[in-house]
Amino acid sequence: MTESSLTQRIAPAGIPASGQQPIDIVAAALADFAACDTATALEDAKAKYLGKTGAITALLKGLGEMTPEHKKLHGAEINEKKTAIEAALKARRESLANEALNAKLASESIDVTLPGRGRGVGGIHPVIQTWQRCEDIFGSIGFDVADGPEIEADWFNFTALNNPPNHPARSMQDTFYVDMNGTDGLPLLLRTHTSPMQVRYARMHAADLSNKGKPIKVIAPGRTYRVDSDATHSPMFHQIEGLWIDEHISFADLKGVYTDFLRRFFETDALTVRFRPSYFPFTEPSAEIDMKFDSGPLKGKWLEISGSGQVHPSVVKNFGLDPERFIGFAFGSGLERLTMLKHGIGDLRLFFEGDHRFLKQFA
Ligand code: PHE
Repeated sequence: MTESSLTQRIAPAGIPASGQQPIDIVAAALADFAACDTATALEDAKAKYLGKTGAITALLKGLGEMTPEHKKLHGAEINEKKTAIEAALKARRESLANEALNAKLASESIDVTLPGRGRGVGGIHPVIQTWQRCEDIFGSIGFDVADGPEIEADWFNFTALNNPPNHPARSMQDTFYVDMNGTDGLPLLLRTHTSPMQVRYARMHAADLSNKGKPIKVIAPGRTYRVDSDATHSPMFHQIEGLWIDEHISFADLKGVYTDFLRRFFETDALTVRFRPSYFPFTEPSAEIDMKFDSGPLKGKWLEISGSGQVHPSVVKNFGLDPERFIGFAFGSGLERLTMLKHGIGDLRLFFEGDHRFLKQFA
């Protein structure tokens, strides 16, 4: 067997066989292995040399045809080449595995120098901002602030307010009832308005008014509930109740106080207020308070803002006061409504969805 026939047999695919120059099979394998950049490609390249039909295998097979001297000579040489190729394969396998590991580590690495995510600073909900603003404004003109139960007795929510069981005016407020009776023997309910606070607060302070001449002058903001749900009604909403009772508090005082409140709340004198006759069982006369902006996007449109009236003598009696001597006014306004008008918000449901994109604007 000549050198050239050996060369032809071992020429791997892609490597031109040269008639004269023996191919350096080890160098070819090394170059091939180095060019592989995945483990799969490397295993394919391995087959070209060490596989069943690979170049080294072919050489070893060729030994069978040789004379014993040639066998000895070439056998040792082929084995050296085989060992060298196997070593190169092993080395390339390891370096590919290392590269893969490094790439994985790099892609999963955590940049410990990044600032932490933290807990953002929260903001006060726009409706609660209105609540606080109302407390500030009414507080500055001498109104006390009171708080009361949201689960209320029928008597405080309705009967004491001149609205006894079976009175048709009860249907003005569709009510959630609690599966438990109050001390009046009637089911407890979620208060439908903040007006029961008129009765609770007045009964607690009636003696101070009768005996010491200390007027009852209070606001009671809080949560209220009705079976109602659409773009302008929510089953849970907020009201602010106002009550001022003394010997000579008249409807004129209501007009003055409420108009002043609206001007301060909306930060403009350019608004007009009107009192439109209405009906509530607990006030007589009763009025709906409407307002109209003289400028801005809502200019010229009458907007209903609050129920109000002069407290009914029967209610004054339920306060524990003499209706012949004491008189005054009450109002109940929606805090969502005030907030919507202040910020030009069209849908009340936005207040209850907890969407940060909406809430962030008020933080
Ligand atoms: N409580 C009434 C309502 O919710 C509003 C109101 C309060 C009216 C006080 C008159 C006086 O509709």
